Amino acid sequence: MKVRIAPSILAADFSKLGEEVRSVEGGGADLIHVDVMDGQFVPPITMGPMIARDLGRATRLPLDVHLMVEDPMRHADSFIEAGASCVTVHCEATPHLDRVIRQIKSKGAKAGVALNPATPLADIFYVLGMVDLVLVMGVNPGWGGQTFIEYTLAKIEAVKAEIKHRKLNTLVEVDGGIKLDNVGKVVKSGADIVVAGTAIFRAGDYGQAIAKMRAAAQKALQS
Ligand code: DX5
Ligand code: ZN
Repeated sequence: MKVRIAPSILAADFSKLGEEVRSVEGGGADLIHVDVMDGQFVPPITMGPMIARDLGRATRLPLDVHLMVEDPMRHADSFIEAGASCVTVHCEATPHLDRVIRQIKSKGAKAGVALNPATPLADIFYVLGMVDLVLVMGVNPGWGGQTFIEYTLAKIEAVKAEIKHRKLNTLVEVDGGIKLDNVGKVVKSGADIVVAGTAIFRAGDYGQAIAKMRAAAQKALQS
C-alpha cells in the first residue's frame, strides 16, 4: 500500500500560502493538511474557511481539514462549502460526535475523527464504522514542531487492528512530530496517511523532503 503524505501548512509561510501549496503539490504531496484552531479547544487561532477556499483554488490536491475547535458542528459546513474533501473533528470537542459525523457526511464530504494522545480508542468504538478516517495525534494539538509521543504508536496499532478485525476501509492518519527518523515506525504501526509540518516546510527543498519521507516509509513497510 502506498503511504500518503499530507504536508501541514501550519508550518508554511502564510504570506505566500498559494505558492507554498503549489510547491508541495509539485514536490509529490498527496493531500494538503489544513490545521484549524479556534483559541478555545487549543490556545492558538489559525485560519478559517476563507483561507481554505482560496487554498482549494491554488491546488488540485484534496484539502484535509483538521478542526481543532470546540463545538465543531458550528464550523464543519463552512469548510465543506469552502471545498474540504475531508473534515476531521476531535472526539473530545463535542458531546454529539455521532451527530456531527452524520452532518459532515450528509454534505458530501468525508468525515474523520481525531483522538488526542491521552484519549482511549474506546471513545470512538461505536462511530468507527461511520468514519472514513481516524486521526491519531502523535502530539498534543496546538503547535507544530513538537516531539512525537512514543506511546501513541500502540494506539495506531490498536486502531489498525480494530479496522482490520471489522473489515473496514477506514484510513489511519497520524499527525504531529513526524520526521524522517520516526516515519518508519509510524507507518509500520499502521499509518496510511502521514502528516508532516516542520519536517517538510522547514526543509530547504520540499520535494526532496517529501521524497525522502516516502522512501523511508516504504522501506520500513518492506522490512
Ligand atoms: C498540531 C497540528 C499538526 C502540526 C504538525 O496541532 O495538528 O498538524 O501542524 O506539525 P509537525 O509536523 O511540525 O509536528
Ligand atoms: Zn493537524
